[in-house]
Amino acid sequence: MALERTLSIIKPDAVAKNAIGAIVGRFEAAGLKVVAAKLKQLSRKEAEGFYAVHKERPFFGALVEFMISGPVFIQALEGEGAIQKNRDLMGATDPKKADKGTIRADFAESIDANAVHGSDSAENAAIEIAYFFATTEVVSA
Ligand code: PPS
Repeated sequence: MALERTLSIIKPDAVAKNAIGAIVGRFEAAGLKVVAAKLKQLSRKEAEGFYAVHKERPFFGALVEFMISGPVFIQALEGEGAIQKNRDLMGATDPKKADKGTIRADFAESIDANAVHGSDSAENAAIEIAYFFATTEVVSA
């Protein structure tokens, strides 16, 4: 498996629950390494830009409102097969459909407040990491 990087966002609902450490602990226990991180209050413009690919979808407005409702914890994670590994740890988008033991099953309440975001492809991971981090802010040990 290739060494990859992926973007993870711990969303406002999970930050408000004081679950940053518990969620990052799951990434680390699964062999993913945090190579960049910041706690950030997104502006409306930043959230709209990040989710621009979804701007025609009916939930776009609700998604942006939710993502600016409180601070988020943004990380770049590195590891073997990091993109799929992160998505497996997250579970399905709708927490009601997420497998037992996944982050969304354990920390999320609903499809519109679903605890975490993870890049869905290598191409998007590179775009998303560059959206939030300068190259000098991503540091491999
Ligand atoms: S995914 O994760 O891209 O495969 O899922 P998708 O269904 O395409 O959803 C894209 C993002 O929109 C969020 N989403 C929603 N937000 C609010 N309300 C509703 N109904 C809803 N449905 C989907 C979903 O969590 C995805 O956000 P991210 O941050 O990528 O997880």
